[in-house]
Amino acid sequence: MGAFVVEDDPAVEKTPPVSEVGKGDDQSLGEASRKENTLKANKKKRKTIFQYGNYNQYYGYRVGSALGTDPRMHLMQKTWFDNKDVIDIGCNEGVFTISLVQKYRVRSMCGIDIDPGLINKASKNLEQAAGNTGGRTVNSIYVWDDYVCENELDYDDKDARKFSVSDVIPESTASDNVVDGLQGKELLERVIFKHANILHCNLRSNVVDTVLCLSVVKWIHLNWGDEGLVEFFIQTYRALRPGGAFILEPQPWSSYLRNFRVSEACRQNFRTMILRPDHFPGILLEHVGFKFCEEISLEVPNSTQGFSRPLYLFTK
Ligand SMILES: C[S@@+](CC[C@H](N)C(=O)[O-])C[C@H]1O[C@@H](n2cnc3c(N)ncnc32)[C@H](O)[C@@H]1O
Repeated sequence: MGAFVVEDDPAVEKTPPVSEVGKGDDQSLGEASRKENTLKANKKKRKTIFQYGNYNQYYGYRVGSALGTDPRMHLMQKTWFDNKDVIDIGCNEGVFTISLVQKYRVRSMCGIDIDPGLINKASKNLEQAAGNTGGRTVNSIYVWDDYVCENELDYDDKDARKFSVSDVIPESTASDNVVDGLQGKELLERVIFKHANILHCNLRSNVVDTVLCLSVVKWIHLNWGDEGLVEFFIQTYRALRPGGAFILEPQPWSSYLRNFRVSEACRQNFRTMILRPDHFPGILLEHVGFKFCEEISLEVPNSTQGFSRPLYLFTK
């Protein structure tokens, strides 16, 4: 994974106040040297960049312990998931993905992410959610090769992750949300997490009922430009069965303005970008081929500041 830079995004790790940074350091250090260490630590933090939106504490910012559960869950509809084959593109640590499978009786769920460290963490979160502490012994009924002609890029692993499902969803809240929830072996059988760049997966035609794409398209758009984005939309359409659902949560243009400097490639793509998030419904309906577009919500009630985004349903 390439070098990383932090931009002014609500989802970016905040540098702790100077007064917090040096706490617990060796008291024998002089004031000047402590300040220097603090400055160095702050500088290092500011250099962390998540070029693909591959934040490693995402659900910490997004959900926030006070809210207990991801407010987007209330906008999800049973018909999209109940007994359906689902792909979650850009699943990050799989926290939302796993919660969905637990809440609805999803037939199969494949979470895909470009960051192998996040996929590793997602698999661990799955095992933890299933109560499978002795290592994975169950094979998923979901067969990846049925869905793709695999052709993914290799990315280097990144920093160790520090977050787990239980940090985000307190047990009491999680069990409140589970309707006939899947647990144990059944949960493990139905979910798989795959490390892949979605643009390098040749998704087969008519293989899934629902594609979930939450807060991901900006990153595809910035990293692969207008062409990459359209290619992604076309591939998603192809993968869906007739009547299938594409659930899209696009980031607003203001969010692009905060993040386009994450890499030189993103800067360049941004400069030549013609498409805007407002154009996506028109592109998906008029050019890609989706039959219907429904605005599920223009905002997510009770969401953390900066994360109230529209949610669309496109039907093939
Ligand atoms: C901002 S996070 C959103 C996580 C999750 N979808 C959610 O909303 O809770 C964006 C995720 O998309 C992933 N991502 C970005 N570009 C991708 C690509 N081309 N293929 C697969 N995953 C990608 C990132 O690694 C990151 O985990």
